[in-house]
Amino acid sequence: MAKTKSIGKQYLYIMQATQETASCKIGITNDLERRLAEYNSTTGKSKNNQCAYLYTCETKNMKAIEKDLAETFGHLREESKREMYFYNTKLFGQYVDFIETHTSFKCRVSLKKEAPQKVIKIVKKTTPTLGERGMTFQSVMNRAQRVDNDEFYTRYEDVEKELSMYDKRVWENKTVFCNCDDAVGKDENSTSAFAMYFIKHFKTLKLKKLICTHYSGQVDLFGQGAAGYIFTKTGFKAIGKYERPKDYNGSFDHPLSIEILENEADIVCTNPPFSRGVDYWNLVVNSGKKFLIISNISNIVTKSYIGFFKNGKAWPGHNRVDSYSNSKRQLVEAGGHWYTNLKIKSRDRHRLLKIVPLKQIPDKYIKYDDSGTLLVDQGYIPSNYKKPFGVSARPILNGVLELGYELVEAGEYYPYIEGQKKFARVLIRKQKG
Ligand SMILES: C[S@@+](CC[C@H](N)C(=O)[O-])C[C@H]1O[C@@H](n2cnc3c(N)ncnc32)[C@H](O)[C@@H]1O
Repeated sequence: MAKTKSIGKQYLYIMQATQETASCKIGITNDLERRLAEYNSTTGKSKNNQCAYLYTCETKNMKAIEKDLAETFGHLREESKREMYFYNTKLFGQYVDFIETHTSFKCRVSLKKEAPQKVIKIVKKTTPTLGERGMTFQSVMNRAQRVDNDEFYTRYEDVEKELSMYDKRVWENKTVFCNCDDAVGKDENSTSAFAMYFIKHFKTLKLKKLICTHYSGQVDLFGQGAAGYIFTKTGFKAIGKYERPKDYNGSFDHPLSIEILENEADIVCTNPPFSRGVDYWNLVVNSGKKFLIISNISNIVTKSYIGFFKNGKAWPGHNRVDSYSNSKRQLVEAGGHWYTNLKIKSRDRHRLLKIVPLKQIPDKYIKYDDSGTLLVDQGYIPSNYKKPFGVSARPILNGVLELGYELVEAGEYYPYIEGQKKFARVLIRKQKG
Protein backbone atom coordinates (compact mmCIF):
# COMPACT_ATOMS: atom_id res chain seq x y z
CA MET A 1 0.00 0.00 0.00
CA ALA A 2 1.46 3.32 -1.03
CA LYS A 3 1.56 6.24 1.37
CA THR A 4 -0.80 8.88 0.14
CA LYS A 5 -0.49 11.70 2.64
CA SER A 6 3.06 12.89 2.38
CA ILE A 7 3.25 16.43 1.09
CA GLY A 8 4.82 16.83 -2.29
CA LYS A 9 3.37 13.65 -3.72
CA GLN A 10 1.34 14.17 -6.84
CA TYR A 11 -1.58 11.97 -7.70
CA LEU A 12 -3.93 11.66 -10.60
CA TYR A 13 -7.26 9.93 -10.20
CA ILE A 14 -10.34 8.82 -12.07
CA MET A 15 -13.43 8.98 -9.92
CA GLN A 16 -17.06 8.14 -10.47
CA ALA A 17 -20.30 8.67 -8.57
CA THR A 18 -22.54 5.61 -8.27
CA GLN A 19 -25.43 7.28 -10.02
CA GLU A 20 -23.49 8.94 -12.82
CA THR A 21 -22.00 6.00 -14.62
CA ALA A 22 -21.95 7.65 -18.04
CA SER A 23 -19.19 10.01 -16.94
CA CYS A 24 -16.13 10.06 -14.74
CA LYS A 25 -14.07 12.83 -13.21
CA ILE A 26 -10.37 12.95 -13.96
CA GLY A 27 -8.54 15.10 -11.45
CA ILE A 28 -5.29 15.71 -9.61
CA THR A 29 -4.47 16.06 -5.91
CA ASN A 30 -1.71 15.84 -3.33
CA ASP A 31 -3.91 13.86 -0.99
CA LEU A 32 -6.13 11.13 -2.37
CA GLU A 33 -7.91 10.29 0.88
CA ARG A 34 -8.81 13.86 1.60
CA ARG A 35 -10.01 14.50 -1.94
CA LEU A 36 -12.35 11.50 -1.82
CA ALA A 37 -13.71 12.55 1.57
CA GLU A 38 -14.28 16.09 0.27
CA TYR A 39 -16.23 14.76 -2.67
CA ASN A 40 -18.39 12.54 -0.58
CA SER A 41 -19.15 15.29 1.86
CA THR A 42 -20.26 17.70 -0.87
CA THR A 43 -21.51 15.91 -3.96
CA GLY A 44 -22.06 12.50 -2.47
CA LYS A 45 -24.10 13.36 0.61
CA SER A 46 -26.71 10.83 -0.34
CA LYS A 47 -25.65 7.34 0.67
CA ASN A 48 -26.69 5.91 -2.64
CA ASN A 49 -24.63 8.30 -4.73
CA GLN A 50 -21.17 7.86 -3.28
CA CYS A 51 -18.01 8.67 -5.18
CA ALA A 52 -15.30 6.07 -5.54
CA TYR A 53 -11.99 5.93 -7.31
CA LEU A 54 -11.85 3.83 -10.44
CA TYR A 55 -8.14 4.44 -10.77
CA THR A 56 -5.38 6.23 -8.90
CA CYS A 57 -1.69 6.70 -9.62
CA GLU A 58 1.31 8.66 -8.48
CA THR A 59 2.93 10.96 -11.00
CA LYS A 60 6.09 13.00 -11.38
CA ASN A 61 4.09 15.92 -12.72
CA MET A 62 0.33 15.65 -12.28
CA LYS A 63 -0.44 18.88 -14.07
CA ALA A 64 1.43 17.77 -17.18
CA ILE A 65 -0.57 14.53 -17.43
CA GLU A 66 -3.82 16.32 -16.70
CA LYS A 67 -3.12 18.87 -19.44
CA ASP A 68 -2.14 16.24 -22.00
CA LEU A 69 -5.20 14.16 -21.17
CA ALA A 70 -7.42 17.17 -21.76
CA GLU A 71 -5.67 17.78 -25.06
CA THR A 72 -5.94 14.21 -26.27
CA PHE A 73 -9.45 13.47 -25.07
CA GLY A 74 -10.86 16.96 -25.51
CA HIS A 75 -13.86 15.65 -27.45
CA LEU A 76 -14.74 13.41 -24.51
CA ARG A 77 -15.00 16.19 -21.93
CA GLU A 78 -18.40 17.47 -21.08
CA GLU A 79 -18.82 20.88 -22.64
CA SER A 80 -20.35 22.33 -19.50
CA LYS A 81 -18.30 20.57 -16.77
CA ARG A 82 -14.78 20.49 -18.10
CA GLU A 83 -13.34 18.00 -15.62
CA MET A 84 -15.98 15.38 -16.44
CA TYR A 85 -15.11 12.86 -19.12
CA PHE A 86 -17.28 10.45 -21.03
CA TYR A 87 -17.14 7.05 -19.40
CA ASN A 88 -17.47 3.67 -20.91
CA THR A 89 -15.39 0.60 -20.26
CA LYS A 90 -13.42 0.81 -23.49
CA LEU A 91 -12.67 4.51 -23.09
CA PHE A 92 -11.62 3.96 -19.50
CA GLY A 93 -8.99 1.52 -20.79
CA GLN A 94 -7.78 4.23 -23.16
CA TYR A 95 -7.51 6.82 -20.40
CA VAL A 96 -5.49 4.41 -18.27
CA ASP A 97 -3.22 3.42 -21.19
CA PHE A 98 -2.57 7.06 -21.92
CA ILE A 99 -1.75 7.84 -18.30
CA GLU A 100 0.53 4.86 -17.84
CA THR A 101 2.53 5.51 -20.99
CA HIS A 102 2.98 9.21 -20.15
CA THR A 103 6.50 10.29 -19.21
CA SER A 104 5.20 11.78 -15.95
CA PHE A 105 3.60 8.53 -14.77
CA LYS A 106 5.26 6.92 -11.73
CA CYS A 107 3.18 4.01 -10.47
CA ARG A 108 -0.34 2.89 -9.70
CA VAL A 109 -1.40 3.34 -6.12
CA SER A 110 -4.27 1.98 -4.18
CA LEU A 111 -6.03 3.29 -1.09
CA LYS A 112 -7.06 -0.13 0.00
CA LYS A 113 -5.98 -3.61 -0.94
CA GLU A 114 -7.52 -4.40 -4.25
CA ALA A 115 -8.96 -7.75 -5.16
CA PRO A 116 -6.61 -9.37 -7.66
CA GLN A 117 -7.34 -8.02 -11.08
CA LYS A 118 -8.70 -10.28 -13.73
CA VAL A 119 -6.14 -10.59 -16.48
CA ILE A 120 -7.80 -10.01 -19.79
CA LYS A 121 -5.99 -11.79 -22.53
CA ILE A 122 -6.08 -9.88 -25.78
CA VAL A 123 -6.58 -12.36 -28.56
CA LYS A 124 -6.27 -11.04 -32.05
CA LYS A 125 -9.47 -11.90 -33.80
CA THR A 126 -9.36 -13.10 -37.33
CA THR A 127 -12.46 -13.68 -39.36
CA PRO A 128 -12.59 -17.27 -40.58
CA THR A 129 -13.20 -17.80 -44.26
CA LEU A 130 -16.61 -18.87 -45.49
CA GLY A 131 -15.12 -22.31 -46.28
CA GLU A 132 -13.82 -22.65 -42.72
CA ARG A 133 -17.34 -21.97 -41.51
CA GLY A 134 -18.82 -24.55 -43.87
CA MET A 135 -20.54 -21.91 -45.96
CA THR A 136 -20.55 -21.04 -49.61
CA PHE A 137 -21.04 -17.68 -51.22
CA GLN A 138 -24.41 -18.88 -52.50
CA SER A 139 -25.59 -19.93 -49.03
CA VAL A 140 -24.67 -16.49 -47.71
CA MET A 141 -26.55 -14.90 -50.61
CA ASN A 142 -29.63 -16.99 -49.91
CA ARG A 143 -29.50 -16.17 -46.26
CA ALA A 144 -28.99 -12.50 -47.03
CA GLN A 145 -32.15 -12.46 -49.06
CA ARG A 146 -34.07 -13.88 -46.12
CA VAL A 147 -32.64 -11.47 -43.60
CA ASP A 148 -35.31 -9.14 -42.40
CA ASN A 149 -34.05 -8.83 -38.89
CA ASP A 150 -32.96 -5.28 -38.20
CA GLU A 151 -31.54 -5.99 -34.82
CA PHE A 152 -28.04 -6.99 -35.82
CA TYR A 153 -25.11 -5.12 -34.38
CA THR A 154 -22.02 -4.48 -36.40
CA ARG A 155 -18.85 -5.81 -34.81
CA TYR A 156 -16.06 -3.39 -33.98
CA GLU A 157 -13.49 -5.36 -35.96
CA ASP A 158 -15.59 -5.09 -39.13
CA VAL A 159 -15.84 -1.31 -38.78
CA GLU A 160 -12.13 -1.04 -38.10
CA LYS A 161 -11.20 -3.31 -41.00
CA GLU A 162 -13.15 -1.30 -43.58
CA LEU A 163 -12.54 2.21 -42.30
CA SER A 164 -8.81 1.73 -42.03
CA MET A 165 -8.68 1.11 -45.78
CA TYR A 166 -9.53 4.69 -46.75
CA ASP A 167 -7.16 7.60 -46.98
CA LYS A 168 -7.22 9.27 -43.56
CA ARG A 169 -7.57 12.68 -45.19
CA VAL A 170 -11.15 11.74 -46.13
CA TRP A 171 -12.19 12.41 -42.53
CA GLU A 172 -10.16 15.53 -41.91
CA ASN A 173 -12.26 18.41 -40.60
CA LYS A 174 -15.44 16.53 -41.47
CA THR A 175 -18.69 16.00 -39.60
CA VAL A 176 -19.53 12.31 -39.42
CA PHE A 177 -23.16 11.38 -38.86
CA CYS A 178 -23.99 7.88 -37.57
CA ASN A 179 -27.74 7.91 -37.89
CA CYS A 180 -29.12 4.39 -37.37
CA ASP A 181 -29.18 3.53 -33.74
CA ASP A 182 -25.55 4.38 -33.16
CA ALA A 183 -25.92 4.59 -29.43
CA VAL A 184 -23.23 5.74 -27.03
CA GLY A 185 -23.48 4.04 -23.66
CA LYS A 186 -21.42 3.03 -20.66
CA ASP A 187 -20.02 -0.21 -22.06
CA GLU A 188 -19.53 -2.08 -25.30
CA ASN A 189 -22.98 -3.65 -25.14
CA SER A 190 -24.65 -0.29 -25.11
CA THR A 191 -22.40 1.42 -27.64
CA SER A 192 -22.49 0.97 -31.40
CA ALA A 193 -19.22 -0.05 -33.02
CA PHE A 194 -19.49 2.94 -35.35
CA ALA A 195 -19.81 5.38 -32.47
CA MET A 196 -16.95 3.65 -30.66
CA TYR A 197 -14.65 3.72 -33.67
CA PHE A 198 -15.12 7.42 -34.32
CA ILE A 199 -14.89 8.37 -30.65
CA LYS A 200 -11.69 6.39 -30.34
CA HIS A 201 -10.14 7.82 -33.51
CA PHE A 202 -11.63 11.31 -33.25
CA LYS A 203 -8.21 12.93 -32.96
CA THR A 204 -6.22 10.81 -35.34
CA LEU A 205 -8.86 11.20 -38.05
CA LYS A 206 -8.93 14.95 -37.26
CA LEU A 207 -12.72 14.97 -37.19
CA LYS A 208 -14.55 18.24 -36.81
CA LYS A 209 -17.68 16.72 -35.32
CA LEU A 210 -19.29 13.38 -34.64
CA ILE A 211 -23.06 13.11 -34.31
CA CYS A 212 -24.50 9.80 -33.18
CA THR A 213 -28.22 9.27 -32.80
CA HIS A 214 -30.07 6.47 -31.00
CA TYR A 215 -33.28 5.02 -32.31
CA SER A 216 -35.97 3.93 -29.98
CA GLY A 217 -38.03 1.44 -31.91
CA GLN A 218 -39.92 -1.64 -30.75
CA VAL A 219 -36.66 -3.35 -29.88
CA ASP A 220 -34.11 -1.02 -28.37
CA LEU A 221 -30.91 -2.78 -29.37
CA PHE A 222 -28.60 -0.76 -27.16
CA GLY A 223 -31.13 0.12 -24.47
CA GLN A 224 -30.27 3.80 -24.75
CA GLY A 225 -33.62 5.26 -25.77
CA ALA A 226 -34.11 8.04 -28.30
CA ALA A 227 -31.24 10.42 -27.91
CA GLY A 228 -27.96 11.43 -29.39
CA TYR A 229 -24.53 12.85 -28.75
CA ILE A 230 -22.52 15.54 -30.44
CA PHE A 231 -18.75 15.37 -30.04
CA THR A 232 -16.54 18.25 -31.08
CA LYS A 233 -12.92 19.16 -30.42
CA THR A 234 -13.99 21.21 -27.42
CA GLY A 235 -16.17 18.64 -25.72
CA PHE A 236 -19.38 16.69 -26.03
CA LYS A 237 -23.00 17.31 -25.27
CA ALA A 238 -26.09 15.19 -25.36
CA ILE A 239 -28.90 15.92 -27.76
CA GLY A 240 -30.85 16.21 -24.58
CA LYS A 241 -34.34 16.85 -23.41
CA TYR A 242 -34.12 20.55 -24.09
CA GLU A 243 -32.49 20.63 -27.46
CA ARG A 244 -34.41 17.86 -29.15
CA PRO A 245 -38.04 18.09 -30.08
CA LYS A 246 -40.30 16.16 -27.71
CA ASP A 247 -41.27 13.67 -30.39
CA TYR A 248 -37.67 12.87 -31.37
CA ASN A 249 -37.38 9.14 -31.85
CA GLY A 250 -33.93 9.07 -33.39
CA SER A 251 -35.23 7.78 -36.71
CA PHE A 252 -33.02 8.56 -39.71
CA ASP A 253 -36.05 10.17 -41.37
CA HIS A 254 -37.19 12.25 -38.39
CA PRO A 255 -37.13 15.98 -39.38
CA LEU A 256 -34.28 16.64 -36.92
CA SER A 257 -32.20 13.80 -38.38
CA ILE A 258 -32.88 15.04 -41.89
CA GLU A 259 -31.90 18.54 -40.85
CA ILE A 260 -28.59 17.21 -39.47
CA LEU A 261 -28.07 15.19 -42.64
CA GLU A 262 -28.69 18.15 -44.90
CA ASN A 263 -27.08 20.95 -42.94
CA GLU A 264 -24.30 19.40 -40.91
CA ALA A 265 -23.21 15.99 -42.10
CA ASP A 266 -20.30 15.52 -44.48
CA ILE A 267 -20.06 11.73 -44.25
CA VAL A 268 -22.74 9.30 -43.15
CA CYS A 269 -21.51 6.04 -41.72
CA THR A 270 -23.62 3.26 -40.25
CA ASN A 271 -25.39 -0.04 -40.75
CA PRO A 272 -29.02 0.87 -41.46
CA PRO A 273 -31.99 -1.44 -40.78
CA PHE A 274 -32.45 -4.05 -43.50
CA SER A 275 -36.21 -3.52 -43.47
CA ARG A 276 -35.87 0.20 -44.27
CA GLY A 277 -32.94 -0.25 -46.64
CA VAL A 278 -34.58 1.20 -49.74
CA ASP A 279 -35.91 4.29 -47.91
CA TYR A 280 -32.52 4.77 -46.29
CA TRP A 281 -30.63 4.55 -49.55
CA ASN A 282 -33.05 6.91 -51.28
CA LEU A 283 -32.55 9.45 -48.53
CA VAL A 284 -28.83 9.16 -47.93
CA VAL A 285 -27.46 8.28 -51.37
CA ASN A 286 -29.60 10.97 -52.99
CA SER A 287 -28.58 13.54 -50.35
CA GLY A 288 -25.32 14.11 -52.20
CA LYS A 289 -23.38 13.50 -48.97
CA LYS A 290 -20.50 11.07 -48.75
CA PHE A 291 -21.44 7.75 -47.19
CA LEU A 292 -19.92 4.48 -46.09
CA ILE A 293 -22.60 2.04 -45.05
CA ILE A 294 -23.30 -1.65 -44.70
CA SER A 295 -26.17 -3.19 -46.62
CA ASN A 296 -27.29 -6.50 -47.95
CA ILE A 297 -24.82 -8.25 -50.24
CA SER A 298 -27.53 -8.74 -52.83
CA ASN A 299 -28.39 -5.02 -53.14
CA ILE A 300 -26.12 -4.88 -56.11
CA VAL A 301 -28.34 -7.28 -58.04
CA THR A 302 -31.65 -5.92 -56.71
CA LYS A 303 -33.90 -3.70 -58.77
CA SER A 304 -34.50 -1.09 -56.05
CA TYR A 305 -30.79 -0.40 -55.70
CA ILE A 306 -29.24 -1.21 -59.03
CA GLY A 307 -29.88 2.28 -60.43
CA PHE A 308 -27.50 3.72 -57.82
CA PHE A 309 -24.71 1.54 -59.16
CA LYS A 310 -25.58 2.12 -62.80
CA ASN A 311 -25.61 5.88 -62.30
CA GLY A 312 -22.28 5.86 -60.47
CA LYS A 313 -23.84 7.10 -57.21
CA ALA A 314 -22.61 4.12 -55.19
CA TRP A 315 -20.06 1.36 -55.48
CA PRO A 316 -18.96 -1.51 -53.28
CA GLY A 317 -16.59 -0.83 -50.43
CA HIS A 318 -13.70 -3.18 -49.74
CA ASN A 319 -15.11 -5.85 -47.50
CA ARG A 320 -17.95 -8.26 -46.97
CA VAL A 321 -19.53 -8.39 -43.54
CA ASP A 322 -20.71 -11.91 -42.77
CA SER A 323 -20.96 -11.93 -38.98
CA TYR A 324 -22.92 -9.76 -36.60
CA SER A 325 -23.95 -9.88 -33.03
CA ASN A 326 -27.67 -10.23 -32.28
CA SER A 327 -29.67 -8.70 -29.45
CA LYS A 328 -28.63 -11.62 -27.21
CA ARG A 329 -25.02 -10.92 -28.16
CA GLN A 330 -24.70 -14.17 -30.04
CA LEU A 331 -22.77 -14.33 -33.28
CA VAL A 332 -25.09 -14.58 -36.27
CA GLU A 333 -24.37 -14.86 -39.97
CA ALA A 334 -25.87 -12.61 -42.62
CA GLY A 335 -24.58 -11.46 -45.94
CA GLY A 336 -23.69 -7.80 -45.76
CA HIS A 337 -21.25 -5.67 -47.69
CA TRP A 338 -19.89 -2.18 -47.45
CA TYR A 339 -21.10 0.36 -49.99
CA THR A 340 -19.78 3.84 -50.48
CA ASN A 341 -19.21 6.83 -52.69
CA LEU A 342 -15.79 7.47 -51.16
CA LYS A 343 -12.86 7.11 -53.50
CA ILE A 344 -11.31 3.66 -53.59
CA LYS A 345 -7.70 4.01 -54.61
CA SER A 346 -6.79 0.40 -55.13
CA ARG A 347 -8.99 -2.59 -54.77
CA ASP A 348 -7.23 -5.72 -53.68
CA ARG A 349 -10.11 -7.90 -54.82
CA HIS A 350 -9.55 -7.07 -58.50
CA ARG A 351 -7.11 -9.97 -58.35
CA LEU A 352 -10.06 -12.34 -57.90
CA LEU A 353 -11.38 -11.45 -61.34
CA LYS A 354 -10.18 -13.55 -64.24
CA ILE A 355 -10.58 -11.36 -67.29
CA VAL A 356 -9.61 -13.57 -70.22
CA PRO A 357 -10.79 -14.25 -73.80
CA LEU A 358 -14.01 -16.28 -73.88
CA LYS A 359 -12.20 -19.30 -75.28
CA GLN A 360 -9.97 -19.51 -72.21
CA ILE A 361 -12.89 -19.75 -69.77
CA PRO A 362 -13.33 -23.40 -68.71
CA ASP A 363 -16.55 -24.87 -70.09
CA LYS A 364 -17.92 -25.62 -66.65
CA TYR A 365 -18.02 -21.89 -65.84
CA ILE A 366 -19.91 -20.92 -69.00
CA LYS A 367 -23.62 -21.40 -69.63
CA TYR A 368 -26.10 -20.00 -72.09
CA ASP A 369 -29.64 -19.56 -70.82
CA ASP A 370 -32.81 -20.34 -72.74
CA SER A 371 -32.68 -16.93 -74.44
CA GLY A 372 -29.06 -17.47 -75.51
CA THR A 373 -27.61 -15.03 -72.97
CA LEU A 374 -24.12 -15.94 -71.80
CA LEU A 375 -23.70 -16.53 -68.05
CA VAL A 376 -20.24 -16.75 -66.51
CA ASP A 377 -19.19 -17.90 -63.05
CA GLN A 378 -16.23 -18.19 -60.70
CA GLY A 379 -14.95 -14.68 -61.38
CA TYR A 380 -14.42 -15.32 -65.10
CA ILE A 381 -15.13 -12.30 -67.31
CA PRO A 382 -14.80 -12.54 -71.07
CA SER A 383 -12.47 -9.84 -72.37
CA ASN A 384 -13.53 -10.12 -76.01
CA TYR A 385 -17.31 -10.57 -75.78
CA LYS A 386 -19.33 -7.69 -77.20
CA LYS A 387 -22.86 -8.65 -76.08
CA PRO A 388 -24.31 -8.36 -72.58
CA PHE A 389 -23.65 -11.32 -70.31
CA GLY A 390 -24.89 -12.29 -66.87
CA VAL A 391 -22.80 -12.31 -63.70
CA SER A 392 -23.64 -12.86 -60.06
CA ALA A 393 -23.15 -10.20 -57.39
CA ARG A 394 -19.65 -11.37 -56.64
CA PRO A 395 -17.69 -9.90 -59.62
CA ILE A 396 -19.49 -6.60 -59.12
CA LEU A 397 -18.53 -6.58 -55.46
CA ASN A 398 -14.99 -7.38 -56.55
CA GLY A 399 -14.95 -4.23 -58.68
CA VAL A 400 -15.51 -5.36 -62.28
CA LEU A 401 -17.36 -2.11 -63.05
CA GLU A 402 -14.11 -0.25 -62.46
CA LEU A 403 -12.32 -2.28 -65.10
CA GLY A 404 -14.06 -1.22 -68.31
CA TYR A 405 -17.41 -2.99 -67.85
CA GLU A 406 -20.83 -1.43 -67.34
CA LEU A 407 -24.27 -2.45 -66.12
CA VAL A 408 -26.68 -2.90 -68.98
CA GLU A 409 -30.05 -2.66 -67.32
CA ALA A 410 -31.28 -1.11 -64.13
CA GLY A 411 -32.82 -4.34 -62.95
CA GLU A 412 -31.97 -7.85 -61.93
CA TYR A 413 -31.85 -10.56 -64.56
CA TYR A 414 -33.43 -13.95 -63.87
CA PRO A 415 -32.09 -16.52 -66.30
CA TYR A 416 -34.16 -19.57 -67.20
CA ILE A 417 -32.34 -22.77 -68.06
CA GLU A 418 -34.48 -25.51 -69.54
CA GLY A 419 -37.49 -23.59 -68.27
CA GLN A 420 -36.18 -23.41 -64.69
CA LYS A 421 -35.74 -20.01 -63.02
CA LYS A 422 -32.20 -19.52 -61.69
CA PHE A 423 -30.85 -17.07 -59.11
CA ALA A 424 -30.74 -13.37 -59.94
CA ARG A 425 -27.82 -12.00 -61.87
CA VAL A 426 -27.08 -8.72 -63.55
CA LEU A 427 -26.23 -8.10 -67.14
CA ILE A 428 -22.99 -6.31 -67.82
CA ARG A 429 -21.02 -5.65 -70.98
CA LYS A 430 -17.64 -4.37 -72.02
CA GLN A 431 -17.68 -0.61 -72.46
CA LYS A 432 -17.17 0.64 -75.98
CA GLY A 433 -13.92 2.28 -76.93
C1 LIG B 1 -28.57 -3.48 -38.52
S1 LIG B 1 -28.88 -2.64 -37.01
C2 LIG B 1 -27.39 -1.75 -36.81
C3 LIG B 1 -27.30 -0.98 -35.54
C4 LIG B 1 -26.03 -0.15 -35.46
N1 LIG B 1 -26.03 0.90 -36.45
C5 LIG B 1 -24.84 -1.05 -35.66
O1 LIG B 1 -24.23 -0.94 -36.70
O2 LIG B 1 -24.57 -1.86 -34.78
C6 LIG B 1 -30.03 -1.44 -37.56
C7 LIG B 1 -30.55 -0.58 -36.44
O3 LIG B 1 -31.40 0.40 -37.00
C8 LIG B 1 -32.45 0.59 -36.08
N2 LIG B 1 -33.57 1.20 -36.81
C9 LIG B 1 -34.73 0.65 -37.21
N3 LIG B 1 -35.49 1.59 -37.78
C10 LIG B 1 -34.79 2.75 -37.73
C11 LIG B 1 -35.04 4.07 -38.14
N4 LIG B 1 -36.19 4.39 -38.74
N5 LIG B 1 -34.11 5.03 -37.92
C12 LIG B 1 -32.92 4.72 -37.33
N6 LIG B 1 -32.63 3.47 -36.91
C13 LIG B 1 -33.55 2.51 -37.11
C14 LIG B 1 -32.74 -0.79 -35.55
O4 LIG B 1 -33.45 -0.72 -34.33
C15 LIG B 1 -31.34 -1.34 -35.40
O5 LIG B 1 -30.82 -1.01 -34.13
